[in-house]
Amino acid sequence: MDTRPVGVFDSGLGGLSVLREARKILPHENFIFYGDNKNAPYGDKIEEEVEHLSFACADFLVKKGAKAILLACNTATAVSCNKIRHTLSIPVVSIEPSIKPACENPGDGKVLMLATLATTRLERYAALQSRMPDPSRVINIPCIGLTDRIEQGVFGIGQFDDLLDSYLSPYYGIKVDGIVLGCTHYVFIGEAIREFCLRHFDGECRLYDGGEGTARQLGRKLHEFGLENDKGSGEVEFYTSGDREFYLPLFKKLLGMD
Ligand code: DGL
Repeated sequence: MDTRPVGVFDSGLGGLSVLREARKILPHENFIFYGDNKNAPYGDKIEEEVEHLSFACADFLVKKGAKAILLACNTATAVSCNKIRHTLSIPVVSIEPSIKPACENPGDGKVLMLATLATTRLERYAALQSRMPDPSRVINIPCIGLTDRIEQGVFGIGQFDDLLDSYLSPYYGIKVDGIVLGCTHYVFIGEAIREFCLRHFDGECRLYDGGEGTARQLGRKLHEFGLENDKGSGEVEFYTSGDREFYLPLFKKLLGMD
C-alpha cells in the first residue's frame, strides 16, 4: 500500500492517451502528468537530446514524489527507457508500438506502423519488428510533422489529409489489415487516420495502440513492488513545460476532467 502518485510523462499531450487507460484500469491510483510541450516534438531530434530531455522529465516527476514512472512516449522509450530504468530506483513502465497484436491478427494484408522518425529508425524498434512472425508484413511510416499539428490542439477528421497523403501515397491501393498508432499523440486522431486510410486502401484498417496493455503492465508492476494504492480516486496533477494557459485546460479536456 503506497498512496504516492504515479508519474507519467511524454513530449506533450500524447501521453494523456496512456494516462486515460491507466485511470480506467487503476481507478484507485493518483497521478502526476508532465507534458514537455516546450520541447515537443521529440521524434525529429537526435538521440542525445531525447535522452537528455527524457531524464529531465523523469527527474521532475521523482522530485514531485512519484512512486513509479509511466513513460508514455514511444520515442523516449526507444531512445532511453533502458538507461532510465537502470538509473532510477523506482519501477519504470514504458510504451512501445503495439505491432504484436496487429501481426497476430490473421490476414493477407499489410500492417501500417505509424510513428515518429526516431522510433522507426532505432534499434529497439527494429528488434521488436524482427520478432514478429512475418516482419515483412509491417510497413513502417515515419510521420514527420504529425505531432506538431496535434500539439496545436487539432484532432478532427479531414484535418490531416495533406500530411497523411505525403506519407502514404506510395502505398495507395494495397490491402491494409491493421494500422498501429506507434506514437501516443496519434491515438487522439485515430479516427481521422482510419477514415483517410479507408478511402485509400483495401482491407479493414483496424486500429491498434499500446495504451491499454501498458496500463495493465503498470498495474502488474505496482503489485509486484507492493506499491498499490486502494485509497486514491484517479486524481491528476498536471504540469507542462509549455504554455500553461493553453495546455492545462486542454489536458483536462482530453481526460474528460474539465
Ligand atoms: N508522443 C510521442 C511518442 O509516443 C512523441 C511524439 C514526438 O514528440 O515526436 O512517440
